[in-house]
Amino acid sequence: MKSRDATLIIGPGRVGSTLAVALQDCGWPLVAIGGRHPAGYKTLATRLDPNIFCGRLDELASRYGSAFPVVLLTVPDDVIAEVAGIAVEQGLVDRNSVVLHVSGFCSGQALAAVSSQGGSVGSMHPLQTFTGTGDAVSGCHWFVEGDEQAIEISSRMVSCLEGIFHLLRGENKTLYHAAASIASNLMTGLVDAALETAGKAGLDHGEMLGALAPLLLRTVNNLIQHGPELSLTGPVSRGDVETVRAHVEALSKQPDILALYRLLASRTIDIAVRSGRIDEQCAAEIKRVVTDFDHPSSLEGEQ
Ligand SMILES: NC(=O)c1ccc[n+]([C@@H]2O[C@H](COP(=O)([O-])OP(=O)(O)OC[C@H]3O[C@@H](n4cnc5c(N)ncnc54)[C@H](OP(=O)(O)O)[C@@H]3O)[C@@H](O)[C@H]2O)c1
Repeated sequence: MKSRDATLIIGPGRVGSTLAVALQDCGWPLVAIGGRHPAGYKTLATRLDPNIFCGRLDELASRYGSAFPVVLLTVPDDVIAEVAGIAVEQGLVDRNSVVLHVSGFCSGQALAAVSSQGGSVGSMHPLQTFTGTGDAVSGCHWFVEGDEQAIEISSRMVSCLEGIFHLLRGENKTLYHAAASIASNLMTGLVDAALETAGKAGLDHGEMLGALAPLLLRTVNNLIQHGPELSLTGPVSRGDVETVRAHVEALSKQPDILALYRLLASRTIDIAVRSGRIDEQCAAEIKRVVTDFDHPSSLEGEQ
């Protein structure tokens, strides 16, 4: 292989396909794509230069006959270790290879099959969601961990992809991934809870989703531009104790959503204190309303 960065991507799924096209387009020396089923890699092949070989791992092994300098594993988290082992067995990876996966959760330790052979290992996670339908890669924030060589290659690859590079310690990946899930997946749960509550008020799901859109977008924009302290509005930030009490009472027939409201309202009380919007005394009063509310009367007749 001519280039010291000659790269093989294993796993032509959502991330693998997106990265393959982006790496090709930015001029990175992408050499081959490895997959399990022709349906996956043949579809991707139609979007790539014909010189980039797409095939099964055993076909790649017999075609190239030597290990790849860089291997990117874009397979599901649960099979990273297994596929790394197969790549080693097939001779696609050796002690001179740098192997990276793109999971936000697993660390480079999932690649023990490679490091035990003396190869370099790491992970580079794009903090973005990919559906495999032409999502942009430039401008992505990449969180990278691994050994020195893995970090060096990732840093150049991220720069080629016009991404933003961040270093992370392997042992902190679970917390990093939890943070991303809170901001993205749990936010989805939160909006779903808002829609269910609006449904109890007799509002149509689709109509309400459309109506919430400008509010959600402005909230997210404010958060991005100004941070939580300056973005917080609403009854907690104004110290409107009675409004919060009314919310808590009104939610008493939706115990799951009430639990969510209580937890997140407590969080926003802390934000309001931090930003100087309410004093400690007011905070304590709202906290009492949020945490001490017992809802026996509201639940009566709910059987
Ligand atoms: N999608 C996202 O938004 C996103 C964002 C950031 C990071 N990631 C990470 O990216 C990685 C891939 O996720 P994805 O969403 O792209 O998954 P995906 O769309 O399901 O693609 C997975 C690919 O791996 C192949 N594969 C599955 N099991 C295999 C095995 N045992 N041996 C060989 N190939 C196998 C699949 O091939 P078949 O078609 O043959 O099953 C498919 O090509 C994961 O580590 C994930 O955490 C995903």
